[in-house]
Amino acid sequence: MSVLLINGPNLNLLGTREPDVYGSTTLTEVEAALTVQAAEAGLEVDCFQSNSEGEIIDRIHAARTDGTAFIIINPGAFTHTSIAIRDAFQSVQVPFCEVHISNVYAREPFRHHSYLSDLAVGVMAGFGTRGYSLAMSFVIERLAPNAVG
Ligand code: DQA
Repeated sequence: MSVLLINGPNLNLLGTREPDVYGSTTLTEVEAALTVQAAEAGLEVDCFQSNSEGEIIDRIHAARTDGTAFIIINPGAFTHTSIAIRDAFQSVQVPFCEVHISNVYAREPFRHHSYLSDLAVGVMAGFGTRGYSLAMSFVIERLAPNAVG
């Protein structure tokens, strides 16, 4: 069983991008930590990052048939703009958690609305990059309850 981790636009720059908002941990470090965390529970992680809306949609479509049991996604700014990514999630019916490193509700009003949150199993916002591992803990409890000690 595998978990798909999707990071959207500009998140490839994590660690150097606005570190006061997003911290100093890189995306490579986040992906490595989640891979270890999942492996300890017997789960695989497929990590995907793209700055392109179409590529993210194509990856979500592929998740329908490639053994993905759960998606953890930080859609970046597409959170606030993309009806197309919303439609992709509705089309594939793979459960997902939405993660935001920053507390989007404490930022500009245009970041307060998400096109995805009402479809998500849960939403993390404001816990820094730790939010990814908190989401993964939840996913592990869901997919591999016997692995939780
Ligand atoms: C973000 C919040 C979004 O508003 C922003 O566009 C991002 C990152 C976050 O992780 O806090 O790119 O999703």
